[in-house]
Amino acid sequence: KEEMENRVREIKRMLGKKLFIPGHHYQKDEVIQFADAVGDSLQLAQISSQNEEADYIVFCGVHFMAETADILTQEYQQVILPDMRAGCSMADMADIYQTEKAWSTLQELFGDSIIPLTYVNSTAAIKSFVGKNGGATVTSSNAHKMVEWALNEKERILFLPDQHLGRNTAADLGVAKNEMAVWDPIRNDLLYDGELEDCKVILWKGHCSVHENFTEQNIKHVRSTHPEMKIIVHPECRREVVEKSDLNGSTKFIIDTIKNAPKGSSWAIGTEMNLVKRLIGQHPDKHIISLNPYMCPCLTMNRIDLPHLLWSLEKIIEEKPHNIIKVEKDIAANATFALDRMLARA
Ligand code: 13P
Ligand code: SF4
Repeated sequence: KEEMENRVREIKRMLGKKLFIPGHHYQKDEVIQFADAVGDSLQLAQISSQNEEADYIVFCGVHFMAETADILTQEYQQVILPDMRAGCSMADMADIYQTEKAWSTLQELFGDSIIPLTYVNSTAAIKSFVGKNGGATVTSSNAHKMVEWALNEKERILFLPDQHLGRNTAADLGVAKNEMAVWDPIRNDLLYDGELEDCKVILWKGHCSVHENFTEQNIKHVRSTHPEMKIIVHPECRREVVEKSDLNGSTKFIIDTIKNAPKGSSWAIGTEMNLVKRLIGQHPDKHIISLNPYMCPCLTMNRIDLPHLLWSLEKIIEEKPHNIIKVEKDIAANATFALDRMLARA
C-alpha cells in the first residue's frame, strides 16, 4: 500500500496543475487523502466548472458526477473515472426511454402545466431531457430552492429519480400528501390517493439503496438506548425516518452541523459509512455513531480505491488515458441548460 501511495504522490508531483482530483465525501480515506478538492455533489460540480487549468480531471466519485464534470468543463479537458463500475443505483432507476414514455402520459393528463426537475444523481440523458423541457437539476443542498422555483414556474412538477428527496422537500414546503403522486416506471402508471387534478408533485419511484437502509426501527433503538442522542439524516432517507429524526439535510449540512455541535454532544448519523467514519475520526470530542449499526456503505462509491486511482494515473503518464467520460455533444448542450438553471440559483 505504501508503495502505491508513494507512486500516486510522485505522479501528482510530475503532473502538477495538469492534474486535478475531485473527491466526494463518500470516498474511502485511501482515496480522499489524494483529493485536491473534497466536497458534496454540488460543490464538486462548481469546483470542476471553475478549473480551466487541468488537462486531466480524475474524478473520485460515481459515474453521474463524472458526466456532470465533463459537461461543465472545457472541450480540451478530459474527465476520467478510475473505475467504470462506479455507478449509482439510484441514477440507474430512471432510464431515458421510461422517462420519455412517462412524460408523454403526463402531458396527456396535465397538458403544459408540468415541469421536470431531476436530482443530479441521474444520467446525462435525463438531465438533457429535463433541460430540453424547461426544467432544472437539483442537489440535496438546494432542493428546497429549486422545487420552490419550479412550482412558481408551473402548477406541477415531475421530480426524478429520488422519490424520498422529492417527498421530503415537498412536505417541508407545505405540499400535502394528497397533492403528491408517484410515477411507477415499471407499471408505467401514476399512483395517487386524492384527486388527479390536485397532484402538484409527481415523484419518480426511485430511491438510494444505501439511504433506504436507515429505518424507523433504527430510530426507536437509538431513542431507547441513547435518549440524549440527536439523530441527523440525509433527505434520501424515507419520509418516516426523516420525520422521526431531529435534523435532516444534505451531506454538507450534516458535516457543518457536526462540526459546529458543542463538545460532548452525541449524534446518530443516517448517511453513507465512509463519511460517518471520517466524522467519527475528526471529532473525538463528540460521541458519534451510525444510525444503522451495520454502517451502510455505498458499494459503488467504494469501487474507486487506491489501486484503481493509481492505475488511472499511470495510464495518463503513459499518454494513454483510460476510462474517459465523454457526454455526447447534443446531450451535453441540453443538460447544460438544466445545470445552468440550477447553478444560477445555487
Ligand atoms: P450530495 O448531493 O449530498 O453530495 O449527495 C450525493 C449522493 O450521492 C448522496 O447519496
Ligand atoms: Fe447513489 Fe446512494 Fe451511492 Fe449516493 S449513496 S451514489 S445516491 S447509491
